[in-house]
Amino acid sequence: MNNTLDFSPEQFQKLLNKTSDLVIHQLSDLESKKAYHFHPQKEVESWFDEPLPKEGMNPEEVIDLFKELVMDTATNNVGPYMYAYVMTGGSQMSLLAEKLTATINQNVGKWHLGPAASEIEKRVVQWAGELTTFGKDCGGVMVSGGSAANLAGLTVARNIFFEKENIREKGLFGMKPFTVYASTEVHGCVDKSLMELGIGTNQLRKIPVNEDFTINLDDLKAAIKQDKSAGFTPFCVVGTAGTVNTGAIDDLTALASIAKEHDMWFHIDGAYGGLPACLKSIQKEYKGIELADSLALDFHKWMYQTFEAGCLLVNDFSILQRTYFKQASYLDTTLEEQGRTNFNEHYFQLTRNAKAIKVWMSLKTYGMKKLKAMIQKDIVLAHYLGEQIEKADDFELKSTSHLAVTSFRYTNGLTDEKAIDELNRKLIPALEKDGRVFITGTTLHNQFVIRACLINHRMHEGTVNYLLKVIREVAANLN
Ligand SMILES: Cc1ncc(COP(=O)(O)O)c(C=O)c1O
Repeated sequence: MNNTLDFSPEQFQKLLNKTSDLVIHQLSDLESKKAYHFHPQKEVESWFDEPLPKEGMNPEEVIDLFKELVMDTATNNVGPYMYAYVMTGGSQMSLLAEKLTATINQNVGKWHLGPAASEIEKRVVQWAGELTTFGKDCGGVMVSGGSAANLAGLTVARNIFFEKENIREKGLFGMKPFTVYASTEVHGCVDKSLMELGIGTNQLRKIPVNEDFTINLDDLKAAIKQDKSAGFTPFCVVGTAGTVNTGAIDDLTALASIAKEHDMWFHIDGAYGGLPACLKSIQKEYKGIELADSLALDFHKWMYQTFEAGCLLVNDFSILQRTYFKQASYLDTTLEEQGRTNFNEHYFQLTRNAKAIKVWMSLKTYGMKKLKAMIQKDIVLAHYLGEQIEKADDFELKSTSHLAVTSFRYTNGLTDEKAIDELNRKLIPALEKDGRVFITGTTLHNQFVIRACLINHRMHEGTVNYLLKVIREVAANLN
């Protein structure tokens, strides 16, 4: 009798075929599928109200259950009607690479646990530095996503900036408060990072933005000056290359020079908009990216990767080790060949999955020429959406940017501000219930707006027109 968890080869082959069929099923006819399947939370909870299984069941039935309860109800990120948040559709090579990577189950914490995977991670990091123009001799590490990349960047900033004070050993006790600067449009993960790092959000100065939602440089300079005279230590400027709300790209050159003048760390959150720095058409917006000390990126956003695939780049690889290294006898490398990169010494995690493999396989399969064309297409489509809105007399355009976020309101002839606000606030849950498209809202200059983010290579003008059509139809049925 087989005393392992393995299926017989025949059964495993059958199960692989069955799961492959499901993949094909899920990825076909995407334009005829809903973006969201509305079920009340209590109902979804009830599907999984079950005891811990004592005896196993037929794996084919488990896969059938997955199809029925999970796959058929899944929020359709892969389809072309997902406009909410920053949701990429993924790509088929990324999906295939996930499956192959899970098969070899590498732990990229130590080099000899994943030799090729470790080298691939180094290569992907360098490619990321090259394609973003951050610098191809940079160092870096793959992390779970944009939030983790920003947390890692700010951890490095704190530990290196205060290295002489032995901050890793002493902690923050007895230190003068140090301050961080970012615009009011900064992503919430920066606030969360400062909570985690013991710096505290009271030390995060949120600087007002200009009309185009980029950080106001005069206000930034004034805030630094005021903090200095009040006895604080200004320590880090966070620029955003692609804000989540509108895709605004801060003036990175100016931020770099302010950071330099005041001897501060310069970190860029490029989780949403860092990778499009590879596009010639908007490259000038990223001038100054190469001057940053650290850059957070997210391949699961604008490089069409399946979740999760974040990345932190730093201009000197050794500072990751100075931030994270912890000697441990069971991880000792003195008996090993020297020159190997053991990623656990350069990041918080010990066990790490091999996220870089899918990025490497995708970049090799599609090539930058094609990937750039897809990113450019998303941007063109976001502008196309803006144009359709401007042409229509029942919508009003609220924001566009160099990237692919377009914000608007449905007005339907209303002029009263309160009535328009109410209509748009009602539309969001109604659209969720309808499910044909998935879109959410945000607040810009204190006004509630509908926000469409287009980073899905499966979208085209027809799917964008469909968004407006569905909004009109759902609005018509509101009362
Ligand atoms: C600008 C920006 N920063 C950080 C994040 C957080 O990234 P993640 O959701 O991968 O943690 C996002 C997510 O949308 C973002 O747009």
